[in-house]
Amino acid sequence: MSTVTSVDIEQIKLAVDLLSKAELVGMPTETVYGLAGDAASDVAIQKIFDLKGRPAKHPVIVHVAGIDQLPLWAKDISNMAYALAEAFWPGPLTLILHKQASVSSLITGGQSSVGVRIPAHPTALALLKAFGRGLAAPSANRFGRVSPTRAAHVRDEFGVQVPLVLDGGSCTLGIESTIVDVRDNKPNLLRLGQITAEQMSDVLNFNVTSGLRDESPRVSGALDQHYAPRTPTELVLRSKLEAWLNAQRFAGQRVLVLAIKTLPVDAQGLVLPKKCDDYARGLYAALRELDQCQVDRIAVECPPTEHGWEAIHDRLNRATFR
Ligand code: TXA
Ligand code: MG
Repeated sequence: MSTVTSVDIEQIKLAVDLLSKAELVGMPTETVYGLAGDAASDVAIQKIFDLKGRPAKHPVIVHVAGIDQLPLWAKDISNMAYALAEAFWPGPLTLILHKQASVSSLITGGQSSVGVRIPAHPTALALLKAFGRGLAAPSANRFGRVSPTRAAHVRDEFGVQVPLVLDGGSCTLGIESTIVDVRDNKPNLLRLGQITAEQMSDVLNFNVTSGLRDESPRVSGALDQHYAPRTPTELVLRSKLEAWLNAQRFAGQRVLVLAIKTLPVDAQGLVLPKKCDDYARGLYAALRELDQCQVDRIAVECPPTEHGWEAIHDRLNRATFR
């Protein structure tokens, strides 16, 4: 596992040069790696959509270096939005706001809203500061696939099609940012992440609701099947794993298990830690590694249903949806 922590200034310069020519760069963030392009360049944004194979209607998040840049991208910014930005940025929170007229409809998927965040990763922040403008960056994976949490994952996804991937080591959180719609005075959570509705409610002294409403903007992370390995993957209770393994073996299936702490006797696969933060950090790398083994099926041991595991359940439910 790479553990790059210091910022490589020469690499940042190279990245700025490429971004200025509407090329794309793999950018580490604290959540997952992003596929970054100049948010002011339709050529760059079109490249993001083409490379990811992402439907044009799915908007991408704009990453900025400081709160002072927010009015460049959003208008009618509420006090609640500023309060959340002050409390959680840089950090794993994306705010959905009313877009400025100048924001390209490629970024917003034709909608009137824009998603913005300041990532908390030294390399991303150094890049954003050196570039000076916003960077559009969805997760650096092909549409619907597992998000990358290491530089090598981005190279695996896109190879030479992405001229530079900045290596910022393994992402410290491992799960995409929380998304909250703060266009009106009724903040609504659209995607679960490390920052919870409860934490935001505490900051705002106001109840942040959760769930898609009819008028909610489209969030591709809200599709039933998303973040999915290619290998058929299912969630299995620990108490049922042994029987599941026996049934699969009886049917001649080659199977791997993603277990918590220990593998069941005679099972092959990987284990993740029992603490939710550590589990989240390792989840996508583990799913990718198991997926590469090209077996018939992957069983993921159901994680605990305790508080703190909600975002993990959300991603695993999508990864295993058929
Ligand atoms: O942690 C993250 O958010 C990572 C890192 C790279 O910042 N990015 C990420 O991007 O997960 P992506 O594109 O894979 O997921 C962004 C989500 C999508 O579900 C998209 O639909 C939603 O954000 N989104 C972006 N702009 C939006 C908007 N204007 N309205 C509603 N949803 C929006
Ligand atoms: Mg994504």
